[in-house]
Amino acid sequence: MKRLSGKVAVVTGGNSGIGLACVQAFAQEGARVVLVGKRQEAVDAALAEFGPDVMGFVGDVSDLAMHDRLLAEVKARFGAIDIYMANAGTAILEPSAAVSVETYEQQFAINTRAVFFGVTKALPFMRDGGSVILTSSMATDKVIDDHAVYAGTKAAIEAFARAWALEVKARRIRVNVLSPGPVDTPILAKLGISEAARPEFDKSMAAAIPLGRLGLPGDLARAALFLASDESVFVTGVNLKVDGGMALT
Ligand SMILES: NC(=O)c1ccc[n+]([C@@H]2O[C@H](COP(=O)([O-])OP(=O)(O)OC[C@H]3O[C@@H](n4cnc5c(N)ncnc54)[C@H](OP(=O)(O)O)[C@@H]3O)[C@@H](O)[C@H]2O)c1
Repeated sequence: MKRLSGKVAVVTGGNSGIGLACVQAFAQEGARVVLVGKRQEAVDAALAEFGPDVMGFVGDVSDLAMHDRLLAEVKARFGAIDIYMANAGTAILEPSAAVSVETYEQQFAINTRAVFFGVTKALPFMRDGGSVILTSSMATDKVIDDHAVYAGTKAAIEAFARAWALEVKARRIRVNVLSPGPVDTPILAKLGISEAARPEFDKSMAAAIPLGRLGLPGDLARAALFLASDESVFVTGVNLKVDGGMALT
């Protein structure tokens, strides 16, 4: 029997990178999945590789009304949610002296506020025994240049996860955090690392990461699958670092 047979999963940021790898892993293990992304064309492109058990939803997670529309649609189509993965995220890396109110608010709106209200709105739609997974970052452990605001947005969701793990314990809903280190996803290009700069970047990452290479989306998806499935039925409130050991350095 597949590990997520009969389960319904929602993955925000499911059209790209880590989220897309999680959608693939969850679907392969028998889940019906709703992938949420901001750009219609990216959602359509991601959906093209799946059958009818994967549904797309286009919306901006920082628009809180979007979550109500999403949940109404998921309820109508699938009934209830077993796995909710708040994974959509953005990074604007700059020294604190250069941070504007706009870039500060943009990051907190997407990485933090959308996670808080996305999860609290989703919980009433979740079946008892479900799994909530929040994608944070190794940057909350290791101080990295230009990451102050980004790390702050993610540190907040780690605190939410610990609080929620106890708030929903009576329903046996587990709440855990997945913390990637640097992973080879489209976010690298969004951060301005060009194709030409990649060999040098990859080399510097291989030197900085104890396990000797950049992470791959599948590395995160396998860990997410563990947190999503009953294999982690006695695990709640943890921060699972999937960073090749980088936070140790
Ligand atoms: N890759 C890394 O090195 C790394 C390291 C640590 C943590 N993370 C975290 O991992 C998560 C996934 O990142 P990734 O590396 O897979 O990057 P990615 O490929 O750029 O994926 C980010 C996803 O978030 C979605 N998204 C961004 N803003 C959104 C918004 N306002 N509304 C709805 N969706 C939005 C994007 O949708 P569109 O494509 O439609 O815009 C995309 O699907 C993020 O939370 C990120 O902070 C990544």
